[in-house]
Amino acid sequence: MKILVFGSLNIDLIFMVDHIASPGETVSGNSFIKSAGGKGANQAAALAKAGMPVYMAGKIGRDGEFLAELLESYGVNTGGIVRYEGATGQAIIQLDHSRQNAIVLYSGGNGAISADEVTAALNEFSAGDLVVLQNEISCLRDIMEGAKKRGMRISFNPSPCNEKIAELPLELVDIFFVNEIEGAALVSMPPRLPSEILDRLVECFPLAEIILTAGKDGAYYGCGTYRAKGDIIDTPVADTTGAGDTFTGYFLAAREKGMPVTQALAAACKASSIAVSRMGAMESIPFAAEVFCD
Ligand code: RIB
Repeated sequence: MKILVFGSLNIDLIFMVDHIASPGETVSGNSFIKSAGGKGANQAAALAKAGMPVYMAGKIGRDGEFLAELLESYGVNTGGIVRYEGATGQAIIQLDHSRQNAIVLYSGGNGAISADEVTAALNEFSAGDLVVLQNEISCLRDIMEGAKKRGMRISFNPSPCNEKIAELPLELVDIFFVNEIEGAALVSMPPRLPSEILDRLVECFPLAEIILTAGKDGAYYGCGTYRAKGDIIDTPVADTTGAGDTFTGYFLAAREKGMPVTQALAAACKASSIAVSRMGAMESIPFAAEVFCD
């Protein structure tokens, strides 16, 4: 069984600000960090740090070479990352004193993935392998259909949640990772309790496993009639960027290692609690020894 993360790689430009800028306002940053991110790359890093062999496919420009190098240092096989003569994806992140963030994305290479590149990447995988997706790259429909044709399992995190999601063959997805907003949007529901959103998601996607993360309220799991819940560990928050990606990578890694759902939820909650206590996205993700130590 092989794991392929087909997803975004971003250069995260993090500005610490007193408050997040309002329309028409200019705010001064108190400090600035350039770091490694992108939902795809973060999830690949989390899987690798959790001890799983993982392949990454995506697209970067010359400015993003350090992202591939960092992933390799964690043990990710980056053979599927294509180079092109444009810019790597960029994320401008404002982070305020209360650790709230606002992110502006430029897709760069993430939005320039072609159907031929999808076929080339998927040709290395076969039945039973897992493809891990988010909503930050082009050609997602091709990837989902191509993966299913090959008998692969599909994990999908519909983030960022936008109009493109409605065009995707979501019935092909085996495991969803959503937060409350994404979950409610997927089933066209007004904001409700996490357990109510979860029930509706399970009804709409009866063949899939659903994991709904609810911030300080922990994480909810549903599949058929089975339900489980994981609690977060309360830690001082430095930066929440990448917390969801850490959760996804650790949950998948724990399940692929054969752990039951409740144990996988506990490990993923612990890993994301550690990640939020540190600055940055990819670099804040803990290694397995910090998480699987009880
Ligand atoms: O999920 C966090 C990520 O979202 C950041 O690293 C940023 O690059 C954006 O893609």
